[in-house]
Amino acid sequence: MADLAGKLAIVTGGARGQGEAEARLLSAKGAAVLVADVLIAEGEALAAELQAAGREVRFLPLDVSEPKSWASVVEAARDWKGRIDILVNNAGIINRTLVETTVLEAWERVLKVNLTGAFLGIQAVAPLMVESGGGSIINISSNSGFSGHYDPAYTASKWGLRGLTRSAAMEFATKGIRVNAICPGLVVTGLNAGSPHLKPMIGMTPMKRSGRPEEIAELVLFLASDASRFITGEDFVIDGGFTAGAAYRRVAVETGIYRDETS
Ligand SMILES: NC(=O)c1ccc[n+]([C@@H]2O[C@H](COP(=O)([O-])OP(=O)(O)OC[C@H]3O[C@@H](n4cnc5c(N)ncnc54)[C@H](O)[C@@H]3O)[C@@H](O)[C@H]2O)c1
Repeated sequence: MADLAGKLAIVTGGARGQGEAEARLLSAKGAAVLVADVLIAEGEALAAELQAAGREVRFLPLDVSEPKSWASVVEAARDWKGRIDILVNNAGIINRTLVETTVLEAWERVLKVNLTGAFLGIQAVAPLMVESGGGSIINISSNSGFSGHYDPAYTASKWGLRGLTRSAAMEFATKGIRVNAICPGLVVTGLNAGSPHLKPMIGMTPMKRSGRPEEIAELVLFLASDASRFITGEDFVIDGGFTAGAAYRRVAVETGIYRDETS
């Protein structure tokens, strides 16, 4: 579908999970990819593997919550290819404590990584992206950016990302930068592996499975490519139908209106 030859992409949190799948796919489509993460050994190993396969991939340490760290990533992109075309703000952390039990430091850390990190990323890359003739920024929010959830710090950060996405899309529309958000449902990764919520989440998901990192990466590719050139400021839910009506579907099953053959 897409040809990203000649483009440079930055994928934050790219050392594992969904970010890793995104780095693999964008580089397979021809982009030079900067994998940026706090996980140094994993990031270096991924870059080495993809370089050995002939891809243009480099790893850089990045803490998305640190402005100085962003400045060195932008400098590295300038030195390497002189441009930035794609930014995937994918880095994220969870917290899993309720309002009554969330300590201030944990609340602030989640907001700082998930929301401020994306803000700092957009702010840092925008000047070089404009110089490069425009580009595409993709913020990885969540389907919990559409509802209440038992992780209030995470949920607030993911709602916030949707607002940041729309605001940045308005600001940069005439400068050639598109800004969109992807809102995945459950994807089993290092973020949540082993969590007791996996089984009930899958049970409630109309498609009865979790998403795969490669499926999220396909949507990232679409939004990164010119195929989506008239789309900006949008949220794309990718969750097997969970947000579309899983709660009503469960009521319908419990009241006998639908029959769920899988349960
Ligand atoms: N897994 C899910 O079910 C799910 C659902 C919806 C949204 N998401 C979102 O998708 C994104 C990717 O998550 P994942 O499922 O691949 O989880 P993951 O834990 O496998 O990957 C997250 C990556 O972000 C990196 N990271 C964490 N803090 C960082 C920081 N300060 N600076 C730079 N990198 C940092 C981690 O080292 C890791 O490589 C996250 O934003 C997450 O909130 C995940």
